[in-house]
Amino acid sequence: MNIKVVNTINQTRNEIATARQQGKSIALVPTMGALHDGHLSLIQQAKKLCDYVAVSIFVNPTQFGPNEDLDKYPRTLDNDINLCESERADLILAPSSKEIYPTANFTWVNVDKLTKTLCGSTRDGHFQGVCTVVAKLFNIFMPDKAFFGQKDAQQLAVIRQMASDLNFPIDIIGCPIIREPDGLAMSSRNRYLSGEQRTQALVINKALQLGQKLFAGGMIKSQDIINKLSKMIQQQPLAKIDYISIVDKDLMHELDTIDRPALLALAVYIGNTRLIDNIVLDPKD
Ligand code: PAF
Repeated sequence: MNIKVVNTINQTRNEIATARQQGKSIALVPTMGALHDGHLSLIQQAKKLCDYVAVSIFVNPTQFGPNEDLDKYPRTLDNDINLCESERADLILAPSSKEIYPTANFTWVNVDKLTKTLCGSTRDGHFQGVCTVVAKLFNIFMPDKAFFGQKDAQQLAVIRQMASDLNFPIDIIGCPIIREPDGLAMSSRNRYLSGEQRTQALVINKALQLGQKLFAGGMIKSQDIINKLSKMIQQQPLAKIDYISIVDKDLMHELDTIDRPALLALAVYIGNTRLIDNIVLDPKD
């Protein structure tokens, strides 16, 4: 096996230092494991843009709320290692919680404004946990570039803002959503779905497509689009809307009228599984 798997910050720093001495540029792909083709597309993009690709696999407890799925979040490390190996990644850091949070944590990274809408409005403290762990990972790996999926569009925008505000010398690279052939966005949480739930989950992408069609047909009032999508989703008995929202694509504040590049984003519970997806609506297209 060519890939190196380590568990500690010290080992990680040593491996990265060696790669740096060899003049290599460093990519970081932060993940929580349970890897799927979406993650692999991040690794593939990282391979294209950097000489040395590091992947972190850490189910970060601080980004889960008290009633969320931290305990049952899928942990598939052996399979994840094999997948990273077959994508020819160079390094995996798979640390324990104690390694990342050795003592009670008193320092938190909070990004204002961009975290007030969408997932930030229904998952209290989520982005504080994400930003804090990503800042830690940036300090551990000190990569040239870091790769994040557009499926978590708000996370990507928030991390871009954090990297800029805190002067991390790291390019934040956003990568497109990878979908199953029937349109369901890939997610580690899809494996929670039963057969019937999996079928009803297709309404999420169908609703986004309807939104795009309505917008292309001239509907530019956000509420009009949201009403139509709500109606469609409510027809699925196992679906419960967490939010449907249209926001400025970069700043994430809600838009009454789509008069600039916008993100149509939604979160829907299918049974107990909360799934998110989004699409860009751009008046220039
Ligand atoms: O997108 C994820 O998997 C996580 O939020 C991240 C960025 C790895 C931080 O824990």
